[in-house]
Amino acid sequence: MDKLDAAAIDLPGVDVRVVERCISTNTSIFEKPIQGPILLAAEEQTAGRGRRGRRWHSPHGAGITFSLAAPLARPPRELAALPLVAGVAVARALRALGAPVALKWPNDLLVGEAKLGGILIESRAGVAVIGVGINCRRVGGLAESLGRRVAFLEMADRNRVIRSLGAALLDALREFEAHGFGAARAHWQAMDAHAGRRLRVRLAGGKIVTGVNDGLALDGALRLATRQGVREVRSGQVLSARAA
Ligand code: BTN
Repeated sequence: MDKLDAAAIDLPGVDVRVVERCISTNTSIFEKPIQGPILLAAEEQTAGRGRRGRRWHSPHGAGITFSLAAPLARPPRELAALPLVAGVAVARALRALGAPVALKWPNDLLVGEAKLGGILIESRAGVAVIGVGINCRRVGGLAESLGRRVAFLEMADRNRVIRSLGAALLDALREFEAHGFGAARAHWQAMDAHAGRRLRVRLAGGKIVTGVNDGLALDGALRLATRQGVREVRSGQVLSARAA
């Protein structure tokens, strides 16, 4: 597979850096002051991080692991929608490259029911960091070790993919900064892998809730139609989806 190359990623106005190895691109990007957009891509992360405290596994050179950091001036209460905004941008860019990607709330990238990739958002003092991990080269045993189905992009030119995703994320941040979540919400719902399905969701406190997916609330919460009425989930994990 191709080597990562900052000159080939080449995003105008962005400080693009490529490293052979780092702990986590989301962690390392904060090591220097962030004044303008920075994109940091790594061939390997020694402690890649996933959502909800999980690890992100990607052997050396086998995937796409990068973080984009950019100043973002939106009130903290609106940042809850940022994971969905980023999910839309990445999924649309991957579709434009020919990958049949759909979204699982809030921003898992699926092909069918198999996980192709994920996104980890962190924000500090007016800077948003969007970390993207995508499985590229088929790695034997990954599905078994994770206990779930996984998909692989298998596109040779990772630099081109990172350039497309980086450009899409910068556009999405500009749109979000200027107009908020409105337009991305409709795009998210149009790419929802589980639209209208009956979902089992584990809430942040551990409680399991079952209900029919009723789309997104205005702030990006997942609406579940339960026997007790509509419940809006702001933090949780979708465990399973079946026909309603
Ligand atoms: C998830 O689905 O749980 C989110 C996975 C996010 C992984 C990416 S890889 C690049 C960036 N650096 C990290 O440590 N994590 C994100």
